[in-house]
Amino acid sequence: MGDALPSRAWKDSFEARMFQGYIAGLKAYWGGELYRQVVSQATSLPVSEMAELEEAMKPHVAYRLYAWLERRLQQLKWSGRWGFSTLVSEQKEALDGLIEKAPSDPHGKLILNADLIIPKYVLETSTHQQKGGLWAEATNAYALAWYTTGLSFSGTNPDELVDWYAALVKQACTDCELVPHVIIDMGCTGGRSTRAIKRALPDAELIGCDVCDGPLRHGYLRSSEERCAVTLAQWSAEDLGVADQSTDVVTSHWLYHEMPPSAIRASMAEAQRVLKPGGLFLAYDMFMVPGGLVGKWLHSGYAARNNEPYAHTLIHFDFRKELESMGFTNVKIELTSPQYASAGMPDQLPTKRLHYMSFISARLECVK
Ligand SMILES: C[S@@+](CC[C@H](N)C(=O)[O-])C[C@H]1O[C@@H](n2cnc3c(N)ncnc32)[C@H](O)[C@@H]1O
Repeated sequence: MGDALPSRAWKDSFEARMFQGYIAGLKAYWGGELYRQVVSQATSLPVSEMAELEEAMKPHVAYRLYAWLERRLQQLKWSGRWGFSTLVSEQKEALDGLIEKAPSDPHGKLILNADLIIPKYVLETSTHQQKGGLWAEATNAYALAWYTTGLSFSGTNPDELVDWYAALVKQACTDCELVPHVIIDMGCTGGRSTRAIKRALPDAELIGCDVCDGPLRHGYLRSSEERCAVTLAQWSAEDLGVADQSTDVVTSHWLYHEMPPSAIRASMAEAQRVLKPGGLFLAYDMFMVPGGLVGKWLHSGYAARNNEPYAHTLIHFDFRKELESMGFTNVKIELTSPQYASAGMPDQLPTKRLHYMSFISARLECVK
């Protein structure tokens, strides 16, 4: 493919940059001073239940503003006059053309499946408050990519996180002396996590999968641009398109907070089917929340206000028990993120609003 590749082909403007800068400034206030006021007020209350805490905090001005900003800033980021979705939809025709007419690429592979039934939990949730999520319009993938290459909702740098995650994947393989030949990255969106793992483990064959075709098409352009040889496939994590015992590592980066418990269970069973004996199941997501009741209350509020309902159910899902019952061993679950060291994690809530990320690793028992 040529050099003039379109993965960042959307056009922004001075006004768009100023507007997004203004939102980022407000977000820093929301996740800093305002968040600290809310944590301090909530921590001082003599309550033991989440519903009680919510009721007691409702009259507090700081909490009302915190909750309002949490929902509204995200909406403005997408759909204000200079929101990412607004600007991308104005360029829809040109961007659709780029996605549709992607030339074939000698480095990567794209497998699409127009017959795939997109799960209800994807169709029914406008995740992150993005209208139509990622499935409705292929160009929504551009808006998401633009959004994610800026600072994420919690003020963290997403590229730093993805490389951090890829280093964890590599370390987990080294720790059990596994040389991976085939790695599946479930819920890959545009393959950002897939390419990060490929960079960390260049000899492995990398397959990223997602149920939505738009991000995969966009990710294919992006992989070509980076000359990164990964396969992007339109498969569900509940039905991976590979043979039994064909894969060394099944992993996911920020997938499970978008799936209800029954679907998580189905994808773990699918991982068990495709993994070779001794293969690794790895996952990175918001599996645990520190800070006791106040931490859980803030996390659940975030899940509701940012349209990520399964981020709430995720922290109640017992991964250790479920994995062990399926024959996985050496199950490890730990809070880990590049930001925690400076923010005083994990014993208490950090001094600024962060996503609490943890890494799960488990090994499929070898058949004797
Ligand atoms: C937060 S994004 C993942 C980000 C990505 N791993 C990265 O690092 O950039 C979650 C993705 O999971 C996808 N997804 C949701 N349910 C899925 C399923 N059952 N199978 C595969 N992908 C799924 C969504 O379409 C979305 O693209």
